[in-house]
Formats: sequence, C-alpha cells, structure tokens
Amino acid sequence: MADDYVRLVEVGARDGLQNEKRTLPPQIRVQLLEMLADAGLRTLEAGAFVSSRWVPQMAGSAEVLKSLTTRTGVTWTALVPNVKGLEAAIEAGCREVAIFAAASEAFSQKNINCSIAQSLRRYQEVMVRARDAGVRVRGYVSCVMGCPFTGHVKPEAVAAVSASLFAMGCYEVSLGDTIGAGTPAATKTLINACSQVVPVSVLAGHFHDSYGMAIANIHAALEAGVRIFDSSVAGLGGCPYSPGATGNVATEDVIYLLNGLGMNHGVDLDALIEIGEFINAELGRETASRVSRALLAKRGLVETN
Ligand code: HMG
Ligand code: MG
Repeated sequence: MADDYVRLVEVGARDGLQNEKRTLPPQIRVQLLEMLADAGLRTLEAGAFVSSRWVPQMAGSAEVLKSLTTRTGVTWTALVPNVKGLEAAIEAGCREVAIFAAASEAFSQKNINCSIAQSLRRYQEVMVRARDAGVRVRGYVSCVMGCPFTGHVKPEAVAAVSASLFAMGCYEVSLGDTIGAGTPAATKTLINACSQVVPVSVLAGHFHDSYGMAIANIHAALEAGVRIFDSSVAGLGGCPYSPGATGNVATEDVIYLLNGLGMNHGVDLDALIEIGEFINAELGRETASRVSRALLAKRGLVETN
C-alpha cells in the first residue's frame, strides 16, 4: 500500500446514529450505507449487536446487515460486546466485527458493565468463535486521551489494552478519543506509545470532535505514520455513555484535509455532501461538517453567518 493512501472507516451509521435523538428505521440506515459505499467508502460500520436496552438506536441491526448488497471490495461490519452479539452478527451475514474495550475502568463499567480485565476475557472468547467462523475482528480502545468520568488517561494504559487486543488476534486497533479532548501533541505521544507494542500500520485514529481538535489530531497522527481513520458523514453522533461528547470527525472534513495534502482515498466529496444533506433531513439536524457548510454556502444553498 502506497504511503500516501489513507483508508477511511465510515462509522456514521453506527457511532453516528447510536447517539442521535431520532432513531431511524433499518431501511433508511440501509439507504444511507448504500449511498456511502457508492461514494467510494470501502469499510463501513453498519450496526451494533448490543443490548437494545443499552442503545435503542441500534435495534434492527440484523435487518440492516441482512438487507445490504454484497459488493466486491466493500466490508460491512458491526460492533459486538460478547459472544451473543457475535453469533447474532454471524447470523446476519457479517464477515467482520469489532470488539470494544476501554483504557479507563470507569468507562468500561458504564459502557459494557464490566472491568477492563473482564472485557478482555470476554473478547478472548469472541476471538476464538470468530476464528472458527472465519470472521475478521477489529479492536477498539476507548478513552485514549481522557475519560468522561475520571479525566486523564495514561498513554501506557492505552498501549497495554492495544497490545492485548492485537495479541488476541485483532487485525487492526482503533484508538478512540471518545470525548474528543486530545490535542496534536497528545496524539503524537499516544501514537508513539502504542506503536511500541502494535505496528503503526495497523493503528487507526478515531477522533470525536468535541473540542474542535479532530482534524488537527488527524494531521498529527498522519505525521506519526497512521494511515487509517474513522469518521462519520456530516459528523453524526457521539457516544451514549460519554456525556458531552459530540460526534465523530466529519468524513467530508477528513477528505478535504487529505485532498489538500495530496493524499489518496478514493472517496467522492461532492457525493458525501449530498449524503450528509439526506441524513440530516432524516434526523432533523444541521451538519457538523465545516467543509460541507462552506461548500454548500458557496453554492448559495445555505446562509453563512
Ligand atoms: P449486561 O446487562 O451486563 O449483560 O450488559 P448481561 O449479560 O447481564 O445480559 C443482560 C441482558 O442483555 C440479557 O437479556 C441478555 O440476553 C442481553 P435479558 O435476559 O435481561 O432479556 N444481552 C444482549 N442483547 C443483545 N445483544 C447482546 C447482548 N448481550 C447480552 N450482545 C452488555 C452487557 C455488553 C450487553 C451491555 O452493556 C451493552 O449492550 N453495552 C453496549 C454499549 C454500547 O454499545 N456502547 C456504545 C458503543 S462503544 C463506543 O461508541 C465507543 C467507540 O465508538 C470508540 C470511541 O469513540 O471511543 C467504539
Ligand atoms: Mg466513537
């Protein structure tokens, strides 16, 4: 893979929609995902096989996964917190899933109702079953630059959980700045710590934009050698167990950055802006993408202030 190629993981239909007030029916989620794949995105989180008592917005994920078209080169994936979730994902046709651990004990308890060590034992069982079924597993670490409940999180704590996920067989480890509190300097420190224990080529950056730092952090991570980033069209969402966190960095903004850097990604920015308009209308919200807002204003479609 050329060093100027960046792979984006579109998480809007999962991380985004899981925290929007309006819960969308499966057919709209499918429409969104198909449009995003048409726009050139190749890895797309389509749902989560979690308890719908914990995250009601992700109910109907099986129907979403079953309805998506099979496309060469496109991976539809979903979050699973345990073997029960994995079995449901496999039944719905998933060939890839993601497990999600945290670098903060308090967040682990609030998010998945167990300690970090318990979650890693649970994920070990998921890995065994996934391997048997030939399902690829991506790993997440949350709270990599701060916890909504306990504040500072040490890079060494993130590196330790990342190493565990990689050692148990995750093909990629996504570092989640759940509360969006990171800065470029902290991002570099974090990548340096994690790349001691996991190859930088399999580290992904997952930045929420609560403090407006996500694009700066992605730039810092690019400089540190990261080439995989998670993002959400229109900057949808947040995290239901992270009070105050805003959505992921907008995919449109990441594409604009990459275009400016002359880096390859294979995604059509104009198409993304249209998709953002579609999903915002469904949700009754404004876009969180600065790039979208600026380009729509240029076309005279929205007012600037
Ligand atoms: P629990 O209450 O401890 O689970 O929840 P339990 O094993 O005691 O079971 C309780 C009930 O849940 C039972 O049902 C189980 O069958 C059911 P009942 O008998 O009471 O009717 N259950 C399930 N149902 C559906 N799917 C399942 C499942 N497992 C058990 N897989 C559990 C533990 C993990 C289930 C719960 O805490 C949960 O679902 N948590 C999900 C939280 C979540 O999705 N958070 C958002 C995603 S993480 C995130 O956004 C961060 C990320 O973006 C990166 C970043 O930004 O940092 C990835
Ligand atoms: Mg997230």
